[in-house]
Amino acid sequence: MTYDFGLVGLGVMGRNFILNVAQNGFSSIGLSSNQNSINLLKSDGKSYEVDGTLDDKDFFQKLKRPRKIMLLVPAGKPVDSVIDRFLPYLEEGDIIIDGGNSHYDDTDRRYSFLKDKNINFIGAGVSGGSKGARLGPSIMPGCDVDIYEQIRPIFESASAKVNGDPCVTYLGNTSSGHYVKMIHNGIEYAIMQLISENYHILKYGLKLENNDIHNVFKKWNEGLLNSYLVEITRDIFLAKDDDSDNYIVDLILDKAKQKGTGKWTSQSAMDFGVSIPTIDSAVSMRIISSFKEMRLKGEKIYGDFKINDQSISVEDVEKSLLFSFIVSFAQGLSQLKTASKEKSYNLNFEEICKIWRGGCIIRAKLLENFMNAYRKDKNLDNLLFDDGISEIITNSISASRKVSIYCINNQIPAQGLLSSISYFDSLKTGRLPMNLVQAQRDCFGEHTFERIDKDGTFHYDRWQ
Ligand code: 6PG
Repeated sequence: MTYDFGLVGLGVMGRNFILNVAQNGFSSIGLSSNQNSINLLKSDGKSYEVDGTLDDKDFFQKLKRPRKIMLLVPAGKPVDSVIDRFLPYLEEGDIIIDGGNSHYDDTDRRYSFLKDKNINFIGAGVSGGSKGARLGPSIMPGCDVDIYEQIRPIFESASAKVNGDPCVTYLGNTSSGHYVKMIHNGIEYAIMQLISENYHILKYGLKLENNDIHNVFKKWNEGLLNSYLVEITRDIFLAKDDDSDNYIVDLILDKAKQKGTGKWTSQSAMDFGVSIPTIDSAVSMRIISSFKEMRLKGEKIYGDFKINDQSISVEDVEKSLLFSFIVSFAQGLSQLKTASKEKSYNLNFEEICKIWRGGCIIRAKLLENFMNAYRKDKNLDNLLFDDGISEIITNSISASRKVSIYCINNQIPAQGLLSSISYFDSLKTGRLPMNLVQAQRDCFGEHTFERIDKDGTFHYDRWQ
């Protein structure tokens, strides 16, 4: 028998994704170097048309042409090694899909390399973790439009659905899918950072117990903040250790790891000249968190601070999260707008918000509002300038300022919130003090400046 779909890499993500595809009626075969993974796939998939093999040649022989082969292997070198290994077997028209978190430059390179050989390449971001892979992820594909048509039935049936709409669509050419997924992850970093700042305030500032914090997040999840990340946070505060009566969250070392997609978002923002300070601060806080020893040293030198200040309410904290949550999306989407121009992706932001509504880690009720904003104006400069969104921002900004002042007064690190407020204030300041920066540049380096009263470029030669 020959199969509709092939998948390489039968780790948890890979196994779950192939089972999802097979369950949706597409016969599938997995390739792995590990017999146990194949056995597991076959036993989990015994009710579907699913098979596994250890052998590359067998894998290729058993796939319908043009072959549709998805790679779910770690990003970086493993993707290149698999492609190199497959070259002798690949035929014109075959489709390779990279479903990992690959860097967009790598995707552009692989796309061109394979295009020269008449092999098609799809860079597809897949979000939703291992559960999403099984139950329906959000899929962000970038490729040639006719090639997308060939994979569309499989992706649409495997993806999450919101009101019947699949959480996948054609995004654009070449690396657009991986770029959109990278931004998704940048926003993910920002929201996780903001939620953790809120946890710090609720626990050490307002002195709430884990049970109370659970209830706070439960309530927040019933309102405008309804989202996957708020929902899992709610549940985390109830989880108890297996060996003691402690909450697991209290036993976890406070060093956050990262695989790099947040950092890439910041790096690319700098390259394209986009300001995304909330996302930058989330990356920066993960870095600071890794210096545990140093932070303990700092605590000894400056003393840890005991907070005795109840001057803000849980509702203020909720509003500050709502404000900075929206700012995080505004920053990520503004970066996408610039990247779309720079890289000629021709992205449709309403569609992006639409496929982020389900399956992915940043899924949130507010994405409906964001979709509406881009439906009204597909060229919206910044999400914060939409009427509907600006109403929510106006209603939440004063509580956000109050919470940020509370954090400063009580020595609570809140880089995410402070950056969000500062970003917002900068965006609504018609005249920034950068005239002075221009004067300084001209003074020490004759870098010239423009004037508000005359056209042209000027240099002043009597600064000192
Ligand atoms: C997703 C996640 C997924 C992964 C992150 C973790 O959309 O399903 O984003 O891709 O869990 O990459 O990233 P860090 O290890 O960098 O936190």
